[in-house]
Amino acid sequence: KKIAVFASGNGSNFQAIHDAVESGKLRAEIKLLVCDRPGAFVVERARKAGVPVLEFSPKQYASKVEFETMLHEELQNNHVDYIVLAGYMRLIGSVLLENYPEKIINIHPSLLPAFPGVDAIGQAVAAGVKVTGVTIHFVDEGMDTGPIIAQKALEIQDGSTEDEVAQQVHKIEHEFYPETLDKLFEGK
Ligand code: GRF
Repeated sequence: KKIAVFASGNGSNFQAIHDAVESGKLRAEIKLLVCDRPGAFVVERARKAGVPVLEFSPKQYASKVEFETMLHEELQNNHVDYIVLAGYMRLIGSVLLENYPEKIINIHPSLLPAFPGVDAIGQAVAAGVKVTGVTIHFVDEGMDTGPIIAQKALEIQDGSTEDEVAQQVHKIEHEFYPETLDKLFEGK
C-alpha cells in the first residue's frame, strides 16, 4: 500500500514506520510526510530519510475544508491508499474523512477509551492506573474515538515516573504500529 504519514512533532513513530519499510517488515511505501507545524523535528527526519515532505501552516488557509482540499489533491497525485497519523495534533475534518473511509489510522498512547486527548500518559500516571498501553484505531470525527484495530497493554510498576512510563509506551509503539499496519495492509 501507498501511505502518507501525518505528524506534527518529534516523529519517532514516523521514524519507526520508515525503518520498518526499509527493513521489509512493513510492506508499504511512504509517499509523503505531511506536517502541519513547519520546522518540526519530524521534517528533518523525513528529509534525511529521503521521504518527500509537505509542510503547511493551517493559519494560512481560511478553513479546514480549504487545507484538507489541498491535502486531498496532493494525496491523490501521489496515489495514496492510507493516511497514517503519527502524533498529528489536529482533528481530521470532513473532506479527508469522506474521501478516505476506513483508510485513516491513528495511534494513541493509552488503552482507549481511557485517557483520550492530549497527555494521555500523564493522565494515566496521575490517575494511578496499574495498566495502560497503546491503541491503534480507525479515525472518525471525534477525538481518539474511532473503531479499535488493536491494543497492547503495559503494566505500570509501583513508583515509576511519568518519564519511565513514557519510554516504555514509546518502545511498544515503535514495534506495534508497523506490525499492526502490515497486518492490516495484508488483510489480516
Ligand atoms: C505518540 O505517543 C503517539 O501515540 C501520539 O503522539 C505521540 C507522537 O510521538 N499520538 P512521536 O512524534 O511519534 O515521537
